[in-house]
Amino acid sequence: MSLQPDKILIVDDEPDIATILKLHLRESGYLTEWAADGETGLDLLRANNYSLVLLDVRMTGISGVEVLRRLRAENIDSAVIMMTAHGNENLVAECMKTGAADYVAKPFDIDDLLHRMERAIANRRTLKEKQLLEQEKEDFFFMLSHDLKNPITAVVGSIDIMREGRLGPVNSEQIDYLQSAIESCEEVVTMIDNLLDMQRYNSGRMNIRITNVDPLSILADAVRRFFPAAERENILLTLTAESSTSEIAVDISIMARVIANLVGNALKFTPEGGFITISCRSIKQSELHCIERPHYAVLPNVFPVPESYALISVSDNGNGISPAELTCIFERYVQAGNSSRRGQGGAGLGLAFCKKAVEDFNGCIWAESVEDSGSEFFILIPCHVADASYTNQMPEPCS
Ligand SMILES: Nc1ncnc2c1ncn2[C@@H]1O[C@H](COP(=O)(O)OP(=O)(O)OP(=O)(O)O)[C@@H](O)[C@H]1O
Ligand SMILES: [Mg+2]
Repeated sequence: MSLQPDKILIVDDEPDIATILKLHLRESGYLTEWAADGETGLDLLRANNYSLVLLDVRMTGISGVEVLRRLRAENIDSAVIMMTAHGNENLVAECMKTGAADYVAKPFDIDDLLHRMERAIANRRTLKEKQLLEQEKEDFFFMLSHDLKNPITAVVGSIDIMREGRLGPVNSEQIDYLQSAIESCEEVVTMIDNLLDMQRYNSGRMNIRITNVDPLSILADAVRRFFPAAERENILLTLTAESSTSEIAVDISIMARVIANLVGNALKFTPEGGFITISCRSIKQSELHCIERPHYAVLPNVFPVPESYALISVSDNGNGISPAELTCIFERYVQAGNSSRRGQGGAGLGLAFCKKAVEDFNGCIWAESVEDSGSEFFILIPCHVADASYTNQMPEPCS
């Protein structure tokens, strides 16, 4: 907190009022300056940093409302309390819309004015602190994506060149080690991507590009990507699907990351010798009621009503999740007890990202699990939208 006294600017063309105000404010520990008209007030505001302006509405020269308008246009962020003897409701509304923090009618009660000033200054301080925190957060995320992610991508590229034997012969054991180094790097990149995307979702700046795509192509890519890791752990990774699955309307790269998060989790939480099965089938709108879902997995009402949905699932026979934890694993930074028991690391962001993304596609996601027996994650996504197109709109939440 600042130990400097707050600086207050009084803009009023009546010297008597300005003098009385100055005396009271000084007694209360404020530093004060006075401008006898709007133009002088604006000049002082441009040159100094005031915590608060007490601004008379009706003055000779430009009006207080005009001063307020100009200082907001110039991004001068001092808090402003308007003062007038000629107030009416429309004027109050106009001042508040233009960015005044408060409004007092002359003749004012000095205790009331001091109370309002304190509140306006405290609010301005809180807002500035929030803006500063936001900026620091932005800088941190910028650092994450550039200073951390880019070098990891370069490391993966170099290891890959070695693994392919382009820098000299490598034996199968060395290939295995290099491959697992690549996978660890990819895990870190996925975590960073999840973190960045959650930040984008939260700030409403997530860009999505919806197109119609065959879900099998995304699922087959995931199997190809995770097959070597599964094989090393002696885990059977399979894909079972109807031969003709309808297209789904999704952002392909975001959907691919959703599936990668689910398969990555299944791999983390399934012991050697286990199995992971990815499956996909179509569900008609009329059959939806047969699919039992927990209360949080609600499909949003969309128009036109989708004729069918793709039901994608990723199941494993890993260590499972307790019933109590099952309801909150889709929240940010939540990890179930199994995570620490097995020292699996991670940030607890993967499923939160999956939920946001699936809801963006007007679908829903949920999980079923039996502790020590396995888990199954389900996604319902509407099939083929006639006018699938680019969009970066935030969707209605799935609830
Ligand atoms: N297939 C699964 N089997 C057992 N537990 C799971 C499974 N998938 C998720 N979980 C539990 O849900 C938690 C949250 O998963 P989530 O993907 O959000 O985070 P994470 O994998 O721990 O970290 P991150 O994805 O950020 O690297 C996990 O920590 C784990 O406890
Ligand atoms: Mg995860």
